[in-house]
Order: sequence, then C-alpha cells, then structure tokens
Amino acid sequence: MSLRYLNRFTKTTAFRLILWYSSIFISSSILLFLLAYFLVSLTIKDQDRKMIQLKSNEYALMEQAEGIDALSREIRQECHGNRLADIFVRLADPQNHTLILTVPRRFRDTDFKVLDNRDILADNWLSLQNKKGRDSIEIMTRRLSDGYLLQVGKGSDEREDLLERFRGIFGLIMIPVVLIGLATGAFMSFRSLNPIRDLIHTVREIDIGKMDARVPSSHTGDELDELIQLFNNMLEKIKTLIGRMQEALDSVAHDLRTPVTRIKTAIEMTLQSDSDAKALRETLMDCAEESEHIMTMLTTLMDISEAESGAMRLNIEEVDIAALIKGIVEVYQYVAEERHIEISVLVPEGLKAYVDSSRTRQVIANLLDNAIKYGRDGGMVEIKAGIKDKELVISVEDNGEGIAAGDLPRIFDRLYRADKSRSRHGLGLGLSLVQAVVHAHKGHCEVQSTPGKGSRFTLFLPQIETF
Ligand SMILES: Nc1ncnc2c1ncn2[C@@H]1O[C@H](COP(=O)(O)OP(=O)(O)OP(=O)(O)O)[C@@H](O)[C@H]1O
Ligand SMILES: [Mg+2]
Repeated sequence: MSLRYLNRFTKTTAFRLILWYSSIFISSSILLFLLAYFLVSLTIKDQDRKMIQLKSNEYALMEQAEGIDALSREIRQECHGNRLADIFVRLADPQNHTLILTVPRRFRDTDFKVLDNRDILADNWLSLQNKKGRDSIEIMTRRLSDGYLLQVGKGSDEREDLLERFRGIFGLIMIPVVLIGLATGAFMSFRSLNPIRDLIHTVREIDIGKMDARVPSSHTGDELDELIQLFNNMLEKIKTLIGRMQEALDSVAHDLRTPVTRIKTAIEMTLQSDSDAKALRETLMDCAEESEHIMTMLTTLMDISEAESGAMRLNIEEVDIAALIKGIVEVYQYVAEERHIEISVLVPEGLKAYVDSSRTRQVIANLLDNAIKYGRDGGMVEIKAGIKDKELVISVEDNGEGIAAGDLPRIFDRLYRADKSRSRHGLGLGLSLVQAVVHAHKGHCEVQSTPGKGSRFTLFLPQIETF
C-alpha cells in the first residue's frame, strides 16, 4: 500500500518540483564550496611561495653582507635549533655541488637528484613529490652574488592538512544543506501548487454538477492568479451561455409548439367534419403555411451555425440593391401599416453592388423587422443605401425605444435579448445572423442608439476588389 503511494508520489509534479528545487539548491551550494575551496587553496599556495621568497631574500642579503661562510653557519645553526623543521634548504657551490642540505622529515624519502643538474635555472620554481606521491614540495632556486646556488622550499603537507580540514567541514555542512534543500523544495512546491490543487478541486466539483463552484483567488497578481481569474471568468461565461441556450431552447420549443398545434388542430377539425374538397384544400394550405413558418425558424438556426462556424458559402454577384430593398419593404409594409409606422427608402435608383443577394435580403429584412418590432407606434423607419469608399453602406434607422448602453455590446451575441424586449416574439438570433453574414462578406456592422429616441444600424460591405 505505502509502496504504491510512494510510486504514485514519484510521478507527481510536486515530487518533480521538490527534486528540482533541492537539486538546484544543493548543486549551487556545492558550486560555491568548490569556488571557495579553489580560492582558499590558491591563497595558501601563494602565501607559501611568499614565505619561501622571504626566506630566500633573507639568506641572500646575509650572503651579500657577511659572505657565504656566515650564511652557511647561519643555516646550520637554524637547522640545529630545529628552526628549519618544515623548510627545505640547499646551498651549493658554483659547480652545483651540495654544501648544505636540510630536508623536512616528510620528504626524507624524496629523490632530490634532479637538483644536482647543472642546467638548473635561477629564479625558477620546481615541484617534487615524495615517494608516497601524496605531498609535494615546491622549491625556488636563486643564484647568490658570487655564483653559489641557494634553493629554498616548503612542503604542501601543511597546506593539504588545512584543505583536508576544510573538506571535512564541508562534508559536515552538506548534511544540513541537503536537509534544508529538501525542506525548502517541499515548502516551495507545496506553496506553488496550492492554486493548482484548488483548480483540480473546483473542476471535480463542477464534474459532479456544482456549476457554481469557483476557484478561490489568492490576489497575488502572479501568472497562476491570472490563470485562476481567467478560469473563473470562463466558468462564468459557460454558465451564462448554458443559461441562454436553455432559454433559447425554451423559446424554440415554445415557438414551434404554436404552429405545430395549429396544424394539428386544423387537421383534427377537418377530419371530424364532413368537409368538402374546398374546405380540405384550405386546411392543407394553412398547414403548408405553418410548415413554412417552422422551416424558416429552423433554417435561421442552421444559417447562424453555418455562418458562425465559417462554413457559409456566398454567391457574390452584381445585385440591384434598390430593387432588393424595395422588395423587402413591400413584404413589411403591411406589418408597418398596422402600427402606423412609415417606412421611407432613400436609395439611389438602380444602385448596384456586389453581394450575395439572398443573404443580403435576409440581413436587411432582419434589421427592418427589428426597426418595426422595437419601433414606436406611429413612428418612422428610414432605410438608406449608397456606395462610399468602395463599400456598400446600408443603414436602417428607427425612432423607437432604443437600446440601453449596457445591452449595446451584447445585442450581436447569439441568443441575446435585452430584458425589456422579452415580451415580444423573437429568439435573439436576428442580429447574430446579420453579423455573421456581414462578416462572411468581409464587412462590419455599427450601431448607434439612444434609449427612448431610437437606433441606427449601419452595414459596411466591401466591394469586388476585396473578394
Ligand atoms: N431597432 C432596435 N431597437 C431597439 N432594440 C433593438 C433593435 N434591434 C435589436 N434590438 C435589441 O437587440 C436584441 C437582439 O436582436 P435580435 O434581432 O438578435 O433578436 P430578436 O429581434 O429579439 O429576435 P429574432 O430577431 O431572433 O426574432 C433584441 O432583443 C432587442 O433587445
Ligand atoms: Mg430581430
């Protein structure tokens, strides 16, 4: 059981983070130690050399002032007085025959024959190893004023002892360093993964249907906090979208129910009565009309899906816009007259443009439908069209109820309907279709509206060069 848990833990991001943090911490500590070790060993070595040079200078000065015999006497006295226990001294005549040789105890077994070499250079450093090969001795050669050779040296043993102690201390320090590294790694990984754990918890909650669950924000302003905010915003949007889909589904069901009920009632009543051929014909015509209504509604839904997914195919051709608008106005004339709304068309006779004729008809019809639906009884609707800067510009203006500033940015959203419009028949799909078709034409739409005063929708459709 515990082995399985361990196995699972080693595969987690937390484990990997701990490993990363602690290995970075530990390896940088090792690196720092190596650097310190290198600098310390260089400094000690340098100090040893300085000490050798000082000793050698001292002997050279004595030889200069008092002669070689006085120097020999001094070296012997120092040797007897055990003052040269750690120092190597060799005095040789101009032919390099050894006169005096004192060797530190650790280097008694070292082969110093190389020093008898006549070609040995003054002011040169050479390094010899003792037999065990553990320690080495550094020797500086110097020629005295009357041709004698003076060689002074010092073993690396003291230095090595010091460095060994240094290594021992480091070994001891490494134990708490590793422990601190692991503890810091665990702490850091726990802290940095906290938001991810919250995220996982929230996703699990949503998975079991708690759609209101949100990830608590740490308000630190870092990347993870930003991710959490974006995630929460996304959840909020999904929730609104699902809500709207639900509403739309209700609307669609409601809107479909009416024509289907009408068809059903008409058929049942006709079946129950002994209707003649004329009555049957009328019933069938009513049914066909209702079916047409249902078809239109379903087609709009499918058109929007097609346009929004970018799969809408356009048949761009030269279209008589003036005639097209006239045709649409004729269809809406009856509804407008019922509400005493006057429709005026300000389009140059014979205005032509390159557009998809049936889609453009749909778009203008939707805008006109809105203008009348949300217009004021006895009000007016004005449709204008013209070519400006290689764009076909069409505007539909009404002096109706207008759109609240808060609703303006959302009216083109699929299924969005302003609260006060809900009393009227509609699905909230008209403007989505308008926008999708205009975008398919590589154009754009603009809307200006003042609540209580009216709205103006303007479409800009680029002409042939852009296609
Ligand atoms: N001319 C307008 N005046 C005031 N409000 C408008 C106007 N045109 C659109 N709106 C607002 O924008 C919303 C979205 O319009 P849209 O045409 O997409 O949907 P709808 O008219 O409610 O339904 P549908 O067009 O699907 O029958 C409307 O519900 C309404 O609140
Ligand atoms: Mg509409």
